[in-house]
Parts: sequence; structure tokens; C-alpha cells
Amino acid sequence: MAQLEQIAAPGSEWWRSAVIYQIYPRSFADASGDGIGDLPGITSRLDSLKELGVDAIWLSPFMTSPQKDAGYDVADYRDVDPLFGTLADFDIMLNAAHARGIRVVVDLVPNHSSDQHVWFQQALKAAPGSPERARYIFRDGKGENGELPPNNWESVFGGGMWERVIEADGTPGQWYLHIFDVSQPDFDWTNEEVREEFRSILRFWLDRGVDGFRVDVAHGMIKKDGLPDYTPPADADSMGGGEDDVPYWGQDGVHDIYRDWHRLLAEYDGDRALCGEAWLPTLKKTALWVRPDEMHQTFNFGYLMTPWDAAELRDVIRNSLDEFGAVGAPSTWVLSNHDVVRHATRLALTIDNPQGDGIGPKTPGKPDPAIGLARARAATTLMLALPGSAYLYQGEELGLPEAMEIPDEFRQDPTWFRTNGERYGRDGCRVPLPWEADAPAFGFNETGLSWLPQPTEWTTYARDAEEADPTSTLALYKELLAVRREHGFGSGSLVWEDAGDDTVAFQRGAVHVLANLGSTPVALPADATVLVSSQPFEGASVPVDAAVWYVKA
Ligand code: NOJ
Repeated sequence: MAQLEQIAAPGSEWWRSAVIYQIYPRSFADASGDGIGDLPGITSRLDSLKELGVDAIWLSPFMTSPQKDAGYDVADYRDVDPLFGTLADFDIMLNAAHARGIRVVVDLVPNHSSDQHVWFQQALKAAPGSPERARYIFRDGKGENGELPPNNWESVFGGGMWERVIEADGTPGQWYLHIFDVSQPDFDWTNEEVREEFRSILRFWLDRGVDGFRVDVAHGMIKKDGLPDYTPPADADSMGGGEDDVPYWGQDGVHDIYRDWHRLLAEYDGDRALCGEAWLPTLKKTALWVRPDEMHQTFNFGYLMTPWDAAELRDVIRNSLDEFGAVGAPSTWVLSNHDVVRHATRLALTIDNPQGDGIGPKTPGKPDPAIGLARARAATTLMLALPGSAYLYQGEELGLPEAMEIPDEFRQDPTWFRTNGERYGRDGCRVPLPWEADAPAFGFNETGLSWLPQPTEWTTYARDAEEADPTSTLALYKELLAVRREHGFGSGSLVWEDAGDDTVAFQRGAVHVLANLGSTPVALPADATVLVSSQPFEGASVPVDAAVWYVKA
């Protein structure tokens, strides 16, 4: 960690203002050439992230897994899946990132394991009521012979949330709970043995030198006592973001777990941090995840879900700063990740598209790619000027759109299978990155293999093509990150400005920020000098769907 600045002063820890780049390992860079990205691939491309100017990387899971949910089904929390390399490859990657001043956050998946985890295999063989079963949520079924599931809960990926097992004597027996795929049984977090195991897993990775954890499903680990029936509204987002009082989301009991983990991380040097993935109905509730003795950050999904609308954006920014500020935490800002339609497509959607549904060949009303890209560039220009920590998702720095035309036979998201193709799921945002316009698999590897097909038109988004173009999205991201760093936008506060109903405008020190979400250009003050603009423009008016950072004489 020699080159990483150690900050001791409370209030200035790195995670409060960091720009954190999400790597989805299977789609980032593939050194082995098998069509699936890997850890040596990441190491080989770290220089490009250094040049981009990010402070940290977060890696989606690379631990041992049968890959039923792209690694979010972990069979061994203390090892690397051979698909991605070895623990030695991980250490090499970690050291190489640290040597470049880039921190490393790994994904922790504590809500559920894979059904191939040794504990679950033991539970299947053990008797009802045994300590092995008590690590998961096994219950007797309803009905005369236990043939009905214990309650009516529906899995996030479609279908029921319970699966019946065959007991050792060959007869149908108890049911186990799985919020996600049937291959992802939920742990019982009221069991102290589960808690102790995860303390040990945290230490395993902390001892190796990771800087923090992104905590998967941080709002789902505790279920309401008695597991009462619950029917979500028809238009509910799959992760439960819009609903209050759901018996498997946002239960108060989760906070004790995070307080425990907070204390554990505090034993280590270097401001190690926890970032929760918690989809909750309000920012007020989300802020409870980052009270001073709990997690350090939580994703601001309220911001991510906000449509391209000036009044709504002003509101969500104001509320975020108020609610997170009230508990002494920074807000995070995020526009894309591996679970949502990429924002270069999402911001031009003309139809409702609940989170997790995805877009595919048969989705009506395909968004206009030029409008989507303009809005995405403007949205990022706005986001990177906000105080707090910002998350970027691999490929957004290239302006990548959602891959909307993936043929059915290539689809891999469990959502697609569990809904019999009714919901496309998330494959469209997970397609391997284009690095070189004229290379096999666009330079993702040397063999041309790719676990999801890359759209042929991605030539224009390839990193080497964008590196050669000063007007590219990559050039914009580099400029934004450099100016953000120079002006310290990650910390401090903002002063709102009024530039009209269809704008979002505020001041950060000497720099003014203005995004135009209306339908006509917006004039800049006569003495304005533009520092960065999401779109090149002539004259003194900010075009529609553009955002600028400027100073006044
Ligand atoms: C949230 C992850 O981001 C998503 O990709 C995964 O499918 C679920 N949690 C289950 O782990």
C-alpha cells in the first residue's frame, strides 16, 4: 500500500469522496482466452484505469461458484473460481492496483450461498431440526402432507421463493427459502454460527489487504418473524426498492450485523469500508444503513432510478444531501451497474421498464441511441460534480449502450429462465468490453471468444478508437475526473443556482454546473468560460441534453 495516502483525520477518509469503478470480472478482460474475463486480465488492464483517473475498483464476485447467477452464488468464500484464476492471481492484481494508488473493494455475498456450498450439502443430508439445517431457512410445508410452500413469497428472479427437498429416506420433505435462484439458499442470520463464519470470511480478505467490501443484498439478510405472507404490487421493482414494510427487505435486525462488522473493520488500518447494496423505498430509510457505527456507504439507488427530469433530479440530490448529511455520511452517486439497463440507453427509454426486466429484441419502443448517449454524458457530467463518492460501471466511460439484440440462445441471466423469457433480465449490460476496434472479440481476449456476443457496431466504442478521438466519451470521462480531482468536488457542499425550471444548476466553489434537461438551449452568463462540456457546442448556449462546468471572469 506504499503509494496510497493514509488519511487519519475523521471526515476525510478516502471512501467519502472516492470515484469507484466497478469491474464485472467475467466481462472486463480475458487473459486465458476462454471467453470469460479473469483476474490476470484485470491486472493487464490496470494502467487504463489509472489513466482514466479512478480512486478504487470494486470487483463483482470471483470466488468459487457454479456460476448459476454469474458468481453471486458462492460455494467457497475463501477461494477464487478457476474461471477467474487463483488466489495468487488475486494477490498479484491487488498489489498491482495498490502500486498504482488504486484501492480494491471486493463483493461479499452474505444473504445466500450456492447450493454447492459445503454447508448446504450437509444441510440436505441432515435431518429436519438439525444444526446443519439451522444455518439456512428450512421450514415444513403447509397442506396435509406439507406439499404447499410455507408462505406465498415470490423470488426476485420469478417463480416461488421456496424449494422442497427430498429427505434422506427418499420422501419429499422440508422446504428451503431462496430470495433469488433455487441454487441460492438464504442463510439464517439469526444463527450465531452464520455470523461467526462471516466474521472469519471478512478477516480472510482484510488480512489479504482489501480496502473494503460491497455487501450484496444488504437489506435482505433478516426476515420478519413468522415469515408472514406478502404480495408485492404488480409494478414492483424486483429488488423491492419501491415498497415499504416487505417481510424480507429492510428489516431492522440487519443493523446489528453491520454494527458488528463496522467494529471488526475498525480493528484494521487504512480506513477499510463497507458499501451496502440496499434497495429501499426512501432515502431516509437508506440513510439508516450508514449511521456512524454501521456501513460507511450505501448505493444511492434513489438517484439511479430518477428519470431524466430536472425537478425530480433537483429533489433527489437535495434529499440525498439532507438525509445522508443528517447521519454524517457522504452520499454515493451511481447511474449504472451490472443489474440495471445501462444509462446510455435507460435515460432515453420511452416505456416503463422495472429494474431487472431488461430490454431485448421484442421490447417495444427502442430508445434513440443518440439521445441516450447525449443524456448519459450530461448525467455523468452532473454526477461527477456532486459532493460524495461516485460509482462508475465498466464500459460507461466508453458510452456503451445496453446490448438490446442478444439472441435468446445466448441468454444466461436466471431471470430469463425463471420467467420463461417473459423478462429479459440483465445480460444486456454485461456484454464483454470492447478494447480494440480491429482485434478478435474487440481485444477482450486473443481468441475471439465471448461468453455473450458483442454487437458488431461496438467497433466505434472500442477504447483504442475513443483514445484517438478528443470528442469521445472516454476523453470526456478523463477530463471530468481530472477536473473533479483538481477542484476537490468529492467533498464539501454545493450552493443551488436558479437557471430555469428545466435545468439543474449549482455552484461548487468557483465552478458552476448547469445541466439542460429542457427542449431549448439555455444561455450561459456573458462572462462564462466553459471548463468541461458533455457535448461540444458553438456560441454561448448549453444545448438540450447537455451539461457544462464553467467559471465566471
Ligand atoms: C444483487 C446482485 O447485484 C445481483 O447481480 C445478484 O443477482 C443478486 N444480488 C443476488 O445475489
